[in-house]
Amino acid sequence: MVELTSDTDDRRRDFLYVATGAAGAVAAGASIWPLVNQMNPSADVQALSMIEVEISGVEIGTQLTVKWRGKPVFIRRRNKTEIKLARSVDFDVLSDPFARNANIDKSANATDLNRALDADGEWLVMIGVCTHLGCVPLADAGEFDGWFCPCHGSHYDSSGRIRKGPAPENLAIPVATFLTESTLRLGA
Ligand code: FES
Repeated sequence: MVELTSDTDDRRRDFLYVATGAAGAVAAGASIWPLVNQMNPSADVQALSMIEVEISGVEIGTQLTVKWRGKPVFIRRRNKTEIKLARSVDFDVLSDPFARNANIDKSANATDLNRALDADGEWLVMIGVCTHLGCVPLADAGEFDGWFCPCHGSHYDSSGRIRKGPAPENLAIPVATFLTESTLRLGA
């Protein structure tokens, strides 16, 4: 079981990564996520192919970041405003029309319903790696009340969809399942 650290308004805490069975690592500011890890995962990274995350401590309107398969994963518990914003977006304005959600069909469109983990839209789980060149986007930032990647100026909305800037795709959603109301499993 992963020990949680629930973020508050302090944006810097978005960079607190907690790894299962290992010491957490802290990185300050935007950083390039090492792509080499994705290409040739080591044995210990492989061992983390599936983790369970305790989410009961995540306050509404905050985000927990955990490390999984060598990457940060954002576990966002959205408030009503974030959900409403995400669900009121006209589909035509989206740069990337696909949901990028590993839990559903690849051709599914990028509605917020197709990206949120639950029907009410409270939980949004995403790989926290900018789809441009791999920086870690900042939460509660940018022009669309979502995430902002300061490396080259990509703005993601409150559904993690790319809305402005050079990133070509929406933030990816990993395989994720609720085991209980308070426990989330990443991976399968
Ligand atoms: S890496 Fe995010 S905008 Fe370039």
